Amino acid sequence: MSHDPQLARLGLFDARVPRYTSYPTAPHFGAEVGPADMARWIGAVPEFSEISLYVHVPFCRRLCWFCACRTQGTTSDEPVRAYVQMLKAELALLRRHLPRGVTLSRLHWGGGTPTLLGPDLIRELADAIQAVAPMAKDGEFSVEIDPNEIDDARLDALAAAGMNRASIGVQDFDPMIQKAIGRDQAYELTRNVAMRIRDRGVASLNTDILYGLPFQTGPRIADSVQKLLTLSPDRVALYGYAHVPWMSRRQQMIPSDAMPTPEERLALFETARQLFLWDGYVEVGIDHFAKPEDGLARALQTGALRRNFQGYTDDPAKVLIGLGASSISRFPQGYAQNASGTAEHTRAIRDGRFSTHRGHAFRGEDLLRARIIEALMCEFRVLKEELLREFDTSVARVDALFRTAAAAFGDMVHVTGEGFFIPERARPLTRMIARAFDAYDSEKARHSAAI
Ligand SMILES: C[S@@+](CC[C@H](N)C(=O)[O-])C[C@H]1O[C@@H](n2cnc3c(N)ncnc32)[C@H](O)[C@@H]1O
Ligand code: SF4
Repeated sequence: MSHDPQLARLGLFDARVPRYTSYPTAPHFGAEVGPADMARWIGAVPEFSEISLYVHVPFCRRLCWFCACRTQGTTSDEPVRAYVQMLKAELALLRRHLPRGVTLSRLHWGGGTPTLLGPDLIRELADAIQAVAPMAKDGEFSVEIDPNEIDDARLDALAAAGMNRASIGVQDFDPMIQKAIGRDQAYELTRNVAMRIRDRGVASLNTDILYGLPFQTGPRIADSVQKLLTLSPDRVALYGYAHVPWMSRRQQMIPSDAMPTPEERLALFETARQLFLWDGYVEVGIDHFAKPEDGLARALQTGALRRNFQGYTDDPAKVLIGLGASSISRFPQGYAQNASGTAEHTRAIRDGRFSTHRGHAFRGEDLLRARIIEALMCEFRVLKEELLREFDTSVARVDALFRTAAAAFGDMVHVTGEGFFIPERARPLTRMIARAFDAYDSEKARHSAAI
C-alpha cells in the first residue's frame, strides 16, 4: 500500500485513539454504577437464556515488558490458589442472583496467565462454573495459553473440562525483538505447544502477533508471519503494539529509540496483512484474520460479527458477565466493572457483595452511537436502514450524525442515501472515524490510550 499523505494528516498516527472494544470506552466509566446495579442487571437476565462468561486471572510467572495487561507477577502458587477460592465464592454469589436455566454460549479464561492454575485448580474452577451455568449446546470454551507456562497435565485438565478453543500469545519470533520486549519464546516451543493442543482434539487455535515492536522491520515481521503460518492457526489477531510507558511502567525497559515510526508501523501491518491474505485468510475487522471456515469469517459474511472486550466475536449473547478483579460486564442496561485491585475485589466477595466500582448506565443516544461504532469497526460501513429499524431515531438525526462525522474526513469517507462507508484506502483510519461518533471523547480520553 502506498502511503496516502491524507492518512497522516487525518490522524492515522495518533496511537492514543481507543480500540472501541466498548462504547463508551472504559476511561469514561463513572462511579454511578455499583454492586446493587450489578445484582439487579444479573437478576434481569432472561431465564433459560444464553450468556457469556469471562474469568480474569491476573497473575503471571514472568512479566513481559511489552505487556500492558492488568496482571501481577507471582513466584508462588499460594496467591493463585487463594484467588481460585475467591472465584468460587464469586460464582456462588452469581448463582444467588442469576435466574434459572441460564447456559453459556461462550466461556473465556483470560489474564494474565490462566494456565498458571495447576490441573487440580483447573478442574475445581471448571466444576464450579459448570454448577452455576453449564455450557450451551454449541458453546465455546476458550483459554489464553502462555506457551512458556503449560504442560501436559494442565492441557489434559483443560481438554477434559471442555476447552475447544485455545489462544496462544506469540508476539514475534525474532530473538532480538523478543529480547527487547522481555519475552523469551522459541519458535520450536510454540510449535510444540500448538501440536499438543491439537493432539487433544481442541478444534480451534488462535494466535496473537504484534506489529510496531522495537527493531521490527519488513523482513523480520515477514519471517515471523511465515513461521506463524506453519502452525496453521484458525484465527490470528495482528495487534498494533501500544507503547504506553506512562501507563505501563514495565514498558520503560523497552528502548523508545528502537520503535518504528508511524509510517513504518503501517508498512509492517501491510506486510503481515498481505502474507495472511496470500495464504487464504479472510481479513476480519481492523486487526484479525481467520480461515474462511472459522466462525469469525462466517460471521463477517452473515453480518453477525460483533465487537467485545476480547476484540472480535461471533457470540450472539446480549449479556457478558466478567468475574475476577478488573473484569467488565456488559448488560443491555450498561457496563459494570469490578474493582481493579485483587485485594479490594476479594474483600468485597468475602463480604458477600459484588465489587463493582465503576461503570456506565446506557442513556440518550448511547446505544445508537455504540452500534454505529461497532458496525464501522466490524464492517467499515453502517447502513441507515438498519439503524432506523433497530433504534427509536429519525432519518434527519441519522443524517446529521453522519454529516458531522464525515465533515472532518473529506473524501476519505462516503455518505450516501444508504449509509456511511469507509472505503478500503481509508481503513487505516477506522478508529479515528469511529471516534467522530464518540460523544464522550475529549482531551482526557486522548491521553489515556486504551489498548
Ligand atoms: C493478556 S495477554 C495474555 C496472553 C498470555 N498471558 C501469554 O503471555 O501468552 C493477551 C494479549 O494481549 C496483547 N497485548 C499485551 N500487551 C499489549 C500491548 N502493549 N500492545 C498490544 N497488544 C498487547 C498480546 O498480544 C497478548 O498476547
Ligand atoms: S504477555 Fe502474558 S505472560 Fe506476559 S505479562 Fe502479559 S499476560 Fe503475563
